[in-house]
Amino acid sequence: MGLRRRDPSKNSNNFHLPFICFSFLLDSLMILSDEHLTHFEEQGYVVVEEFYPEELRAQISEAIRESHPPWEFYKDKPKDEKPYFQVSKDFPYEHDIFNKLTVCPDLIDFAQRILGTKDIHLRYAHNWAKYPLNEERKSKVHVDNGNCSQLPRGGQEFGQMHTWYFPDGVTEDEAPMFVVPKPYGRDVSKKISLVVPPGTMVIFSAHFWHSATDFKGTEGQRYSVSRLYGRADHYWEGLGSYVNLGNNDRYRKFIGTLTAKEREIFKFPPAGHPYYTLETLAMLEEQYPGWNAGDEYAPGETIVATDDLYIAGLPNDE
Ligand SMILES: [Fe+2]
Repeated sequence: MGLRRRDPSKNSNNFHLPFICFSFLLDSLMILSDEHLTHFEEQGYVVVEEFYPEELRAQISEAIRESHPPWEFYKDKPKDEKPYFQVSKDFPYEHDIFNKLTVCPDLIDFAQRILGTKDIHLRYAHNWAKYPLNEERKSKVHVDNGNCSQLPRGGQEFGQMHTWYFPDGVTEDEAPMFVVPKPYGRDVSKKISLVVPPGTMVIFSAHFWHSATDFKGTEGQRYSVSRLYGRADHYWEGLGSYVNLGNNDRYRKFIGTLTAKEREIFKFPPAGHPYYTLETLAMLEEQYPGWNAGDEYAPGETIVATDDLYIAGLPNDE
């Protein structure tokens, strides 16, 4: 079922890379091909095994264990100290790896090709650990459009692109999602169970029929790392927001590390926008340290403030 990477990694040890190496390997990754795109367009989804090289997969697997303890940590705890059925954490993350994964160049390029524009936004990101708990919730087959757009489904360019990465893989007992290939609409008799090996990336459209399933096993957990992208000009779509996080320390630190082009994914005006003046660039540098480290923003006319400066949304006492 899964399409393999064109150039699978030969190295399968668990050597842990410094973050700078993680970033370099991520930035140099480009494996999503025209074949993957055709499969997505015809089937509504694509499954890519060995998506990241083993060094990255192992580092992601270890990082998610730090933020989402494995089932062993919870299994003997009293009921009120266990999660209901999963632990979910949203962007921005304490661990730099998970912030960096939101700007994976390969996924962004693929989203741009699917959505028909270079101008895309991250809508939302979450990391989940699902446990063998409270499986009476009865998942239903659905399309995600209803929870991330206020308009009924349109053509593919009116969809959004979901990505699900399973660093440890998913067994039949660990609540694999199922998907119904696009030609079959919502005919669940044609469903395909996403039982996948470690390191598999699943990409599907917000118009695509799929479902969660019950955790049948009594041990283990299912880890997933998800990101959702959409067109910048589709302001009627969205699932979460981050434009309210300008004071959030994790967000400020992460945004400061990005290039001007990457910041556009997070709804910042592009370089050359009239918002950028000597004065606003100075305030941005204070709010997002490293903002102009690449000297990418050419300041326009300097506007003298007629009011007190506000740094990070708070009055500047100096
Ligand atoms: Fe869904």
